[in-house]
Amino acid sequence: MADGGSRRFDGLTTEQKRALAEKMLREKQTRSRMAAPASFIFPPEFAQLRDYFRFDGFKGVADLFFQICDGLNAAHAEIDGRRYLNFCSYNYLGMSGDPAVSAAAKEAIDRYGTSVSASRLVSGERPLHRQLERAIADWVRAEDALLFVGGFSTNENAIGHLMGAGDLVVYDSLIHASIQQGAKLARATVAPFPHNNPEALDKILQRRRGDARHALVVIEGVYSMDGDIPDLPRFIEIAKRHNALLMVDEAHSMGVLGATGRGIGEHFGISPGDVDLWMGTLSKSFASCGGYIAGRADVVEYLRLTAPGFVYSVGLSPPDTAAALAALEQLKAEPERVSTLQARARLFIERARAAGLDTGPSHGSAVVPIMIGSSVKSVLLSRALMERGILALPIIYPAVPENTARLRFFISSTHGVDEIEQAVAATGECLARL
Ligand SMILES: Cc1ncc(COP(=O)(O)O)c(C=O)c1O
Repeated sequence: MADGGSRRFDGLTTEQKRALAEKMLREKQTRSRMAAPASFIFPPEFAQLRDYFRFDGFKGVADLFFQICDGLNAAHAEIDGRRYLNFCSYNYLGMSGDPAVSAAAKEAIDRYGTSVSASRLVSGERPLHRQLERAIADWVRAEDALLFVGGFSTNENAIGHLMGAGDLVVYDSLIHASIQQGAKLARATVAPFPHNNPEALDKILQRRRGDARHALVVIEGVYSMDGDIPDLPRFIEIAKRHNALLMVDEAHSMGVLGATGRGIGEHFGISPGDVDLWMGTLSKSFASCGGYIAGRADVVEYLRLTAPGFVYSVGLSPPDTAAALAALEQLKAEPERVSTLQARARLFIERARAAGLDTGPSHGSAVVPIMIGSSVKSVLLSRALMERGILALPIIYPAVPENTARLRFFISSTHGVDEIEQAVAATGECLARL
């Protein structure tokens, strides 16, 4: 310290010296912060992630992600003029690109424009909104439903608004990021339980339910990494016994599970009122963009009148609303799309297992992982398949632990039997050569 600085301490008590030293340190920090131009400070892990996406060699994935595709994202996709057999799409029932769905979206644009240009509360409401909410509520047999402009933001908004400090949110350890974000926003106490383990949930609730105002249990209808399904009746029983609320995210089960595609509730034949919040996205089986919460009328009304992400956000766009409504109508009229999807998924798993491929815990859904157990091998396999005209993306560390790195296949009702067989055979051959 310079002499001028040290003289400032002369004659001070120990306590005064400490206070002055802290003040001088704070002043120094402020001076150094003010000296550099303002900028965002990124977490150190970001540099590693960025390198991963930029790296131009063996370990990099820049050539696989953010690919610019042309045309529909369906059973086939086009990149740089080449047509690929595609297993990277949530278009489970082929509704995006269906002529009736596209026609409904175009008609809605002609009548209402491309945006409703306001919150629904203040001039944004159009008849299509309530028609779609009523149709979804009837479809999942709930009292009412509310639309949000994104699937992710549906979870964030609903959980973030319905839960609060002093509440407990207990979710599956593989739960989607949107649910974790919702619980964070709510400032609720969070307790993840091991994947698909109702006994572990039971124990958490035994220990912690008593301290919480509300307890909310959140699970998914189909888990998007592994394609497995929770034992819903068991989760209902546990939630009820502990007087906890139950929410099911049907992003990957709506249109996929159940004889007519009504989702996991139909799959298990439960009474729909046993689940407090049914959540779904419009971006998968419903060929659109947005999400919904369906449940008791009083809960939906509370969200409609008070959830900031609904009240202070624009209404769902006319083409998005009309497309989802038309997709739901198509689904009702053509339930064979669901049985075809289920048959194709079964075929994929059967053929893969017969070829010695590890399909993990997937069963009965449209998400099928092929477990590889190495990020590098998964990337190489994805590239080898791409060379053979097949698109299936790797899920690698850090998204999953290194020993569970895999390729993930999304099956669609529009995949042909021969295409499923071709994809499985090519995967087996390419993997054997790595
Ligand atoms: C389980 C789950 N919930 C919510 C979402 C978010 O939906 P969206 O992509 O429609 O915003 C996703 C996205 O894939 C998801 O997998």
